[in-house]
Amino acid sequence: MKRLEGKVIAISGGTSGVGKAAAEAFANEGAKVVIGGRDHIKAEETIQKIKEKGGDALFVHTELRDVEDCKKLILQTVEHYGKIDGLFNYAGVTPISALDSCDVDTFNDVMNINFRASFFCCQEAILQMRKIGGGSIVLTGSMHAWGGEKDRAAYACSKGALLTLMEHIANNYANEQIRCNYLTLGWLPTEGELALRSQYGETEEQLRSRAAGYIPMGRMQEPYDYIEILIYLMSDESKMMTGSTLKVAGGLRF
Ligand SMILES: NC(=O)c1ccc[n+]([C@@H]2O[C@H](COP(=O)([O-])OP(=O)(O)OC[C@H]3O[C@@H](n4cnc5c(N)ncnc54)[C@H](OP(=O)(O)O)[C@@H]3O)[C@@H](O)[C@H]2O)c1
Repeated sequence: MKRLEGKVIAISGGTSGVGKAAAEAFANEGAKVVIGGRDHIKAEETIQKIKEKGGDALFVHTELRDVEDCKKLILQTVEHYGKIDGLFNYAGVTPISALDSCDVDTFNDVMNINFRASFFCCQEAILQMRKIGGGSIVLTGSMHAWGGEKDRAAYACSKGALLTLMEHIANNYANEQIRCNYLTLGWLPTEGELALRSQYGETEEQLRSRAAGYIPMGRMQEPYDYIEILIYLMSDESKMMTGSTLKVAGGLRF
């Protein structure tokens, strides 16, 4: 029995990292998957893989700086598959931005992509989930939400705002069976993270070695570390679970 049979799940940032791995895993468990993002080539590769295994998936070009695109991700999911049961809000950016040097453009960009976009994706998802009697939203968290490192002020605040959004949805929409949980990632060598570190001259090997010394459990996390928990959060097995903060971070704390 597939655990997500009959579900329709949209993923913001389904083109990369945990979002990409989740798209394949959700489809393997029987869900129809909608991949949001801008990179249609990467999305098509994933869709091809899913279809080869007999699954079904769709790409919706989504520029999260544009609120109408945020709503479009959800609306096209419903238009194509008739409903939305799950939203995995993965997309985000992680710029270096210390409080004593962060400029307004960097602040606006990180808040718009990480927080404002999530707010309006959730708004549209709630409007649609309400029509089918419920749904599950997973917001992607970071340990930076609890203060964070000095060089990530704007990023940390965007992830703190998401934590509040999760609590807000959990507090106010449980009576409609609309659930929301906050999945806190640790430290992963994703494309975004590798691109950021390479700007500062650090190779993947150097990053992995430095991070392994810093993370109490001794290694960086990988997308597969999140798959079982994501399937659980999207499935009916977790239907009484909302308002939870799950830390899968190898013991990392800032
Ligand atoms: N890597 C880590 O160590 C770490 C730790 C804690 C939390 N996180 C969280 O994990 C998430 C991914 O971050 P990451 O740096 O690791 O990146 P990543 O895996 O490379 O993925 C970034 C995703 O965000 C999408 N995205 C970025 N800007 C977008 C925009 N303007 N419009 C639409 N989609 C956009 C990208 O899609 P396209 O390229 O297709 O546009 C891509 O799918 C973020 O929420 C981040 O806060 C990461």
